[in-house]
Amino acid sequence: MPYVVTDNCIKCKHLDCVEVCPVDCFYEGENTLVINPDECIDCDVCVPECPVEAILPDTDPIGVKWLEFNRKYSTDMNWPVITENSGPDPEHEKYHPVNFPDGKMHLFSENPGKGDLN
Ligand code: SF4
Ligand code: F3S
Repeated sequence: MPYVVTDNCIKCKHLDCVEVCPVDCFYEGENTLVINPDECIDCDVCVPECPVEAILPDTDPIGVKWLEFNRKYSTDMNWPVITENSGPDPEHEKYHPVNFPDGKMHLFSENPGKGDLN
């Protein structure tokens, strides 16, 4: 039952999640994160850290829709691992999920982020 990141993270990127993950399985895109579901050990400590409730188990009816998205961007797209919390996106308030009732995928970037584990 791995956990996955949903589109709530896009352009919010609070990063509170990454510093608590014991197995460093968060991967960074330009404006969102994903979890590698094959590395996640299902500890669930990251879930309460996210202020915008972007992390769900894949047993959740919404979470399961994001499983292949998380697998694709954490494995096939060369996004780097991220482990340190450098603070939220400066525009995170503007991009709070409550302002986007139809989701935020139209804002998604496939480009990798910088990461911090090389
Ligand atoms: Fe990491 Fe645990 Fe969150 Fe999985 S559930 S991403 S192992 S902190
Ligand atoms: Fe994204 Fe939430 Fe982590 S907004 S970066 S999943 S704390």
